[in-house]
Amino acid sequence: MPDYIWKKSASGAVDEHVMRFLAGDDVVLDRELLAFDIRASQAHAQGLARIGVLTREQAESMVTSLDDLASAFACGDFVLDDRYEDGHSAIEAWLTDKLGDIGGRIHAGRSRNDQVAVALRLYMKDRLALLGDLCARTAQVCLDRAAVEGDVPLPGHTHLQQAMPSSLGLWWGGHAEAFIDNLELAHTIHAWLDASPLGTASGFGVNFPLDRDGVAEELGFDRLVVNPQYAQNSRGKTELRALDALSAASGDLRRISWDLSLFASQEFGFVRVPAAFCTGSSIMPNKLNPDTVELLRSLHATVVGARAELEAVLSLPSGYQRDLQDTKPPLIRAFSRGLAGLAILPELLAGLEWQPNQMRAAIAPALHATDRANELVGEGKAFREAYRQAAAELDQMDQRTPEDSLNARVSPGGCANLLLDRLKTRLRAVVGGR
Ligand code: ARG
Repeated sequence: MPDYIWKKSASGAVDEHVMRFLAGDDVVLDRELLAFDIRASQAHAQGLARIGVLTREQAESMVTSLDDLASAFACGDFVLDDRYEDGHSAIEAWLTDKLGDIGGRIHAGRSRNDQVAVALRLYMKDRLALLGDLCARTAQVCLDRAAVEGDVPLPGHTHLQQAMPSSLGLWWGGHAEAFIDNLELAHTIHAWLDASPLGTASGFGVNFPLDRDGVAEELGFDRLVVNPQYAQNSRGKTELRALDALSAASGDLRRISWDLSLFASQEFGFVRVPAAFCTGSSIMPNKLNPDTVELLRSLHATVVGARAELEAVLSLPSGYQRDLQDTKPPLIRAFSRGLAGLAILPELLAGLEWQPNQMRAAIAPALHATDRANELVGEGKAFREAYRQAAAELDQMDQRTPEDSLNARVSPGGCANLLLDRLKTRLRAVVGGR
């Protein structure tokens, strides 16, 4: 066990097994945060130099030494393990080890409370930016495929019952629009939590005129979390909103996965999932299972479960409470799993092999009944009357083709007027607007 940074004297030491419980998986989770913690520590050191708490040389030596730590950590020469209580202690230990007493001055004007809060905000900003990129890539693949194969007929379902002829253009365009929405939400939440809590210390401010604005700017934050109490009270709240953005995408991913697992079944036979995304059965030689699609579907459960766990942790009074440490596992678990899945989605979608013949063959003549009713309305009949007449003619629809139906669907957004250009323009605007 390490020599804790908060240890005051030999007496009053916490039992080792209690300490292990308190640390939990912190040191492992902090591996995800260490790079951000290092960046924030460098900015903090430079901020201290600007107000004369450190000399320029001291701050520079800290920045250089922290660069070394970042490189050693990235290449595996430095391992964050249970020699340390957490990532924050590891940073302080590294600096003290390399620079002696000067290294210990890094903690002037900050606490682990604002240190972890700033690292988490930087982490969330990074992951939300990645989420946005993956949503944009997904939307782009959907739009590209809609442009190429948009006219291909596909039976449309409601209640999982055959309803009307639809098209791949409508299916792809629908998922494109969903992911443009998800991209925009990721940007919105990114902007909403783009505030630096660094320099609020344990939640009450400090006795130095810290250059909080300068430090925030250097770290790329848009503004400050002004109030030190709120810097702590917003922990968990920001994480929840970040997971909202993630769950919007993972929820839509679940829906796409559902469609694909149905469409890929022998009963539908509409699509083949490329072998690169499938595995075999250990006993049934005939099987090739779309496991990727299924685990992409269940990924949403991880995100939703993490959200529920976070909500449960957050029943707290104002100020820092150690419970807040338990907001890290669900956040990091959900983003690690969620982004890993979303990163696979664009290539999976790009690789889908549609089976147009089966799709067309599945469009039974009765699916044209709504078109027939609409034609009769066009001829001047009241809709209810037209509806009854079309119902009586269900067995007389076999002259109609899926194309007749699709070409007649001219309402804005409908199969003959998908308005893909509007979606493309919006995607470009949201991507460019970040
Ligand atoms: N691991 C802790 C957390 O995530 C770091 C902050 C510790 N602060 C403290 N006062 N014990 O909340």
